Amino acid sequence: MASTLFSSSVSLLFSYVVVLAFCTLQIHGGTDPSNSYYTIRVDSLFAAGKTGNCSIDLQGDDRDFSLKVTHRHGACSPLPETDHAHLRDFLLQDQLRVDSLQHPSTIPTTSTDVTLPARQGLALGTGNYIVTVGYGTPRRDLTVVFDTGSDLSWIQCQPCAGFCYPQQDPIFDPSKSTTHANVTCDSPYCAQLRRKTCARASDTCVYNVVYGDRSFSSGLLVLDTLTLTPSDVFPHFLFGCGQNNRGLFRGYAGLLGLSRTNLSIVSQTSRAFGGVFSYCLPSSSYHLGYLTFGSSNNRYPSDITCNGNVSYTPLLSSPRPDLYSVNMTGVSVMGQPLDIPPTVFSHAGTVVDSGTVVTRLPRTAYEALREAYRAGLAEYPRAPPLAFLDTCFDFSGHEAVAVPRVTMHFDGGVDVVVDPSGLFVAERASQVCLAIAGNANDEDIGIVGNMQQRRHEVVFDVGNGRLGFGDNWGCN
Ligand SMILES: *[C@@H]1O[C@H](CO)[C@@H](O)[C@H](O)[C@H]1NC(C)=O
Ligand SMILES: *[C@@H]1O[C@H](CO)[C@@H](O)[C@H](O)[C@H]1NC(C)=O
Ligand SMILES: *[C@@H]1O[C@H](CO)[C@@H](O)[C@H](O)[C@H]1NC(C)=O
Ligand SMILES: *[C@@H]1O[C@H](CO)[C@@H](O)[C@H](O)[C@H]1NC(C)=O
Ligand SMILES: *[C@@H]1O[C@H](CO)[C@@H](O)[C@H](O)[C@H]1NC(C)=O
Repeated sequence: MASTLFSSSVSLLFSYVVVLAFCTLQIHGGTDPSNSYYTIRVDSLFAAGKTGNCSIDLQGDDRDFSLKVTHRHGACSPLPETDHAHLRDFLLQDQLRVDSLQHPSTIPTTSTDVTLPARQGLALGTGNYIVTVGYGTPRRDLTVVFDTGSDLSWIQCQPCAGFCYPQQDPIFDPSKSTTHANVTCDSPYCAQLRRKTCARASDTCVYNVVYGDRSFSSGLLVLDTLTLTPSDVFPHFLFGCGQNNRGLFRGYAGLLGLSRTNLSIVSQTSRAFGGVFSYCLPSSSYHLGYLTFGSSNNRYPSDITCNGNVSYTPLLSSPRPDLYSVNMTGVSVMGQPLDIPPTVFSHAGTVVDSGTVVTRLPRTAYEALREAYRAGLAEYPRAPPLAFLDTCFDFSGHEAVAVPRVTMHFDGGVDVVVDPSGLFVAERASQVCLAIAGNANDEDIGIVGNMQQRRHEVVFDVGNGRLGFGDNWGCN
């Protein structure tokens, strides 16, 4: 109910905006990238619940081919607010995801091996950003999380033969969709699954996915119509109809897999979209971002650029061919490149991930960053570490603080300035921590987390083997 109201009022507002302001940039809180310091309000650092109002931004409104992206929690989320987790639990959850990206062999291979985390009530889990898309005929709109680290998309389906966790939208009933089809065990689609079984009696292919946080989904591999936008409809989209789903999903109807591999929506729609999608993750739970399939250059009139220029770095096949691997080359603080041997980055390799929250750097690179950051904020007392975050400050008694700018550099001359909203996490002014962490060593994969991607248009161009960052703020 709440979600229906939400989306209809949003689209109503959008249709007005299109007429009035085509491609107008209304980005607030703009930051001059030439400044060494950003001023941030200390009270803006604390995670807020659903108390404020969702601000609908102009940017993105003319994109009727885009999906609106919100954070799972907060004012703009169509999902009901669940129990608020503590920041420490949230960070431990993030570490589970990182462990599974860095050491995939530690993920249990079947759901029977799975022990659920001690704190099942935690409303976290894989990924944090959600979109609403349509499944089946007639189309049912479902709110799902999207994840660049997953290939197979799935939704919860009736009958929940095993278990379905509570979700906001009604659970999808395949028997009510006229375009629904099962996949047989000998189908080439079934052959692409890493973990599968065959329901012999009905000759139907059964998928089984387990995530790094031990959440899992299992059910029938199916084909049905996927409606991204009214003009982007895909018959025979391959996804999982989950009849046994457990873990930390809470509230949303399933998952949209955006990884680089065959089963993901990116490869399934590559004939239409050329293997291109882009997103802009909003600065807070009070703002909207977008997820767009296809190149915006092809969709906008050519003389209009909404987000400034996108600069590209090559997509690499290592450290992970299935994830968005790139060549990070350095980090700057206050515009000064840190003294880090380039081999530190090339040794471990780096992936850009939508589901990891906090960026992880090779140990040596992180220690250089921590030193420079502490020097830049030397006038404030240091605070104790929060979980694995150990560049922490005590801002008690200050209303606003000037904090050093951080820039990440990638091969091809791509410089990504971290938005101030992506620099810190905190529960209280006396312990405000830089939201960037170090890996245990220089061997583990570096990960660009979603906080440090906020407000940039990030273009995943699999077709052309490159990944781009807009040089301007793409959303609020
Ligand atoms: C939210 O919107 C309502 C109605 O427009 C308004 O009365 C209220 O003051 C707003 N709250 C905040 C925190 O802005
Ligand atoms: C798909 O398989 C399930 C389980 O075998 C069966 O109940 C269902 O009717 C099948 N659906 C279709 C559309 O054939
Ligand atoms: C992915 O698809 C390509 C082309 O359809 C195929 O050659 C390749 O074997 C597939 N890879 C996997 C892992 O199924
Ligand atoms: C894009 O880059 C070109 C060439 O560097 C520059 O002239 C132009 O102003 C840039 N456009 C925007 C919107 O930043
Ligand atoms: C990464 O970038 C550096 C600097 O441009 C370059 O020397 C190196 O060859 C690149 N490595 C890969 C694997 O592309």
